[in-house]
Parts: sequence; structure tokens; C-alpha cells
Amino acid sequence: MFKYGCLIALALLFSCKEKENTSNTTEQETASIAYTEKFRPQFHFSPPEKWMNDPNGLVFHEGVYHLFYQYYPDDIVWGPMHWGHAVSKDMIRWENKPIALYPDELGLIFSGSAVVDRNNTSGFGEEGKVPLVAIYTYHLMEGEKAGRNDFQTQGIAYSLDNGDSWTKYEGNPVIGNDGIKDFRDPKVFWHEPSQNWIMALVAGDHVKFYESDNLKEWELTSEFGKDKGAHGGVWECPDLFKLPVTGNEEEKWVLLVSMNPGAPNGGSGTQYFVGEFDGTSFTTDQEDAKWIDYGMDNYAGVTYNNTPNGERIFIGWMSNWNYARNTPTEVWRSSMTLPRNISLHKKGGEYNLQSLPLEQFSSLQKMQKQMDSIVLNETYTLEADTFNNTDISFTANLNEPLEVSYSNASGEKVSFTINPEEHKLLLDRTQSGIVDFEESFGQRVQEQPFTLEDREVDIRLIMDASSLEIFIEEGSYIFTNQLFPKEEYTTFEIKAGDAGGVVRQFTYHKITSIWN
Ligand code: FRU
Repeated sequence: MFKYGCLIALALLFSCKEKENTSNTTEQETASIAYTEKFRPQFHFSPPEKWMNDPNGLVFHEGVYHLFYQYYPDDIVWGPMHWGHAVSKDMIRWENKPIALYPDELGLIFSGSAVVDRNNTSGFGEEGKVPLVAIYTYHLMEGEKAGRNDFQTQGIAYSLDNGDSWTKYEGNPVIGNDGIKDFRDPKVFWHEPSQNWIMALVAGDHVKFYESDNLKEWELTSEFGKDKGAHGGVWECPDLFKLPVTGNEEEKWVLLVSMNPGAPNGGSGTQYFVGEFDGTSFTTDQEDAKWIDYGMDNYAGVTYNNTPNGERIFIGWMSNWNYARNTPTEVWRSSMTLPRNISLHKKGGEYNLQSLPLEQFSSLQKMQKQMDSIVLNETYTLEADTFNNTDISFTANLNEPLEVSYSNASGEKVSFTINPEEHKLLLDRTQSGIVDFEESFGQRVQEQPFTLEDREVDIRLIMDASSLEIFIEEGSYIFTNQLFPKEEYTTFEIKAGDAGGVVRQFTYHKITSIWN
């Protein structure tokens, strides 16, 4: 827990008394924050102010998508964790809500999930009201400081007014700790065949599965992962769900596990496993990790419970523990990735995930330019007042490496290269703007091995005020990265080598801000 260690003193000063949840300070503060500061994301979720990390409690209930998140309301660095809260009807526009969960005598409120307890298995329902139940980790700073290993336990809370107010269960914690130092981030879902709630919980270097029929009493059923996947860091924020394989009748289970450090391009990243789950154990033939994203800024991502049509919607925290607390913003710190739809595909006996922005994201697009084809005898250049808030997509027919870049008059530049000869994708933000707030941010070019199947590659680039999300081959390869250019980028270029290349179906959209 070294990453929280430096905050112990701060936490001890902090009063863990439950605050009244009826205060509307957050709403008043929200009203005065216009989301217009430099680097402020215009179509990604960021908290009105202060520090945010992981998405928590992603659940759809009564027409509303909830986004809870790890939140420290008193500073723009990590501190005693609360669950912040925002809601959306369409996963595009967000409304900020008051803080949902405050620390109490059992500890700070770390990451977790939320479920709709439709059959009132918990007994929390009253007068026919369906309870929304949050399942989260308690982190007891005093325990950590005393050098004990049992300071993380699991607790639950419920809401009968669709997330506006919460009551903690008096029998907390519902899962105690026998001495496992990193024991956290419960993801719970309803498993229809066994008529049980299933929980995936991480324990340092593996996932533990539990079952319960009432959300209060939990039984350990199995463990997974000590000898599978990547182990360069601590396992965090698991998620387990079933997905149909696109184009055939098969269904498989997918286990997401975030890990920090040890991601392919440094620091924090999210690996996944594809296999089977029989209600008690997860098994897979897969030995090595596969990754959700090859960029440096997509961490602790999990998916929604209870979506209306069973879609698998994923949101990640768009940052990296290497430098999350050092990024050059002042009012708030960090944002979420765009919500993405996850699908599963089988090719050559291998199962791979693809993820793409939700269809409805296109409702924010305003067409600027559309071209059927561009022959790349020379560099293709597009100029604009700013490339903030843009969505550019095209298909490239490659003979040679192709470089796409955004730059400005001060020579700041971020580039993405597809190199078919060296079988590599490369993202270079080393000269992208402010990079010196922490050494790993702009230290090296991010790389991912890549095999070009034919000469055609589709690319989509979505740029907000301080991020660039790149989706390749229908979201088979993704690079999500934060960027902090001193001046906005005004030049967009596509460059091919001497042998040229052809770009087809080029579209360039502006994206409307969701905050005005
Ligand atoms: C992941 C994480 C979780 C933990 C939370 C604390 O980023 O470390 O494991 O619950 O952040 O804020």
C-alpha cells in the first residue's frame, strides 16, 4: 500500500465521523464551476473539483446510469476516500450529485460495485422499494499505520431512493480480513443459474470468488490467477462477466484485473482473461495477460451492472498511478475514459476483446469534413483553430509506415505511427507539451506489437482538451493517453513514406461540449 502510505498523516488528521448526507454543498459548488478551465475535458466525465480516481458502483437503475467514483473532496491529490456520484440518462451528459458515501469508523471507502437487489434478498427493501446495494472496501488507516495486515474489509450500504441517500449496514464489515494486506475492490453481480450473488475480490496476486444469497453473508468458493497473467504489481479492481462471441453461438466469461505497476507501457494497466465460470470457479487456457488498452491512461476500469439491453459498458479512470497526483490541473484532477462498449471476437482460436465508444456518442458530432479518398503522395495537412474536441476517423491502405500527428506552432506534437514492417504501433507523447511533472509521463515512446492482416487499417482518434483516445481495427488496439499541450494543437497531419498510401472514408467531426 505504499501509494497510500504518504497520506497516513493526513488521514489521521481527518475526522472519520459520518457527515450528514443531506448537505447540498456539492450541488452549490457544482453550479459555480463552469468546466471551462484549461485542460478541462469537454465530453469526458471529470468531477466539478478536487481529486478523483477509480469508477465505482457502475449500475443502471430506473432509467439512470450511476457513476460513483473514488473521491477526495478536500484536495487535488489522493486523500481519505469517499464515493463521489454523478448520474446520466444517456451515458453522454452527466449530472453531478452530492457525495454518496463518507468514511466512517470502519475506514475510508475504497473501490467497489453496486447492484439492484430486485428480489430484496438483502431485506433492505421497504414498502416495495427495490434497494440499490453498494459493496465496497473499508480501508482502516489506523490499522495500516499500526503495521497490521488486516486493515481492508468489505462493507455494504443501501439506497431506497435510487442513489440519493445511503444507509450503511449495521452488520458491517460483511467480509473480515484474516491478514491479507491487499484485499479489496469487490465486484458483485447476480448469477442467474446458481441464484446467487457472486463477488470477485482481489487479494494481492490473485482473485478470490465468493457467493452469497443475501449480500450479507459470503462464502469463499475459489481462487484464480496466482500462476496466470501478469504479476508485475498488485492486482486491483476485478470484474467478471459473460459475453457472446460475435458471429457465432458461443458465450465466454471475461475476467478483468487491473494491475499497478507492471502495465506494458509502464505503471498502471488492465489485463483480461477469457474463459469459463461455472458459478464457483473461473478457468481459462490463457496463460499470458491480454490488455484492454496499450496507452498509459486507462486504469481500474470496470463494467455496468444491469444495463437495459445487456450491453457491456466499460469506463476506466483516465490516469496512471505513476503520475496521477502530478498532472498540471488545479481545480480538479483527472477524468474518466469515454464509456465503451465491449465485445468479444474469436480469430484463429484466440478470443480477444474489442471496445469502441458507445453508438450514442455520435450525437455529439458536428461534421466538418468528409472525403472518400486522399492519395498520400505528400503529407496530408489539416489546419484548425484547435483540434480539441474532435473525432477523426479513416481507413488507411498502407504500403509503408503511416504517421498521424497533432502539433502546434510551438513545436509541441503527439504522433501515432503504424509500422507494418516492424509490426508495431507507436505512440509518441515525449514532445506533446507539459511532460516534466513526472519522469515516466513523457519518457519513452509507447509501443505495441501489431500484425497487419491486410493492408487496410481503420483508425479513429478522439481528442478532448487533455486526452487522446485512439481506436485501431474496430477497437482491437487502443491507446488512451492524457496530454497537456501548452497551446492547443492546430495542425493535423497524415504522413506516409515514399511509397505513399491511400486514405479512405476520411471524416472529421467537432464534438459538442456536454457541460454547457
Ligand atoms: C485502484 C485503487 C483500488 C483502491 C482505490 C483506492 O486505483 O488502488 O485498489 O480501492 O484505488 O482509492
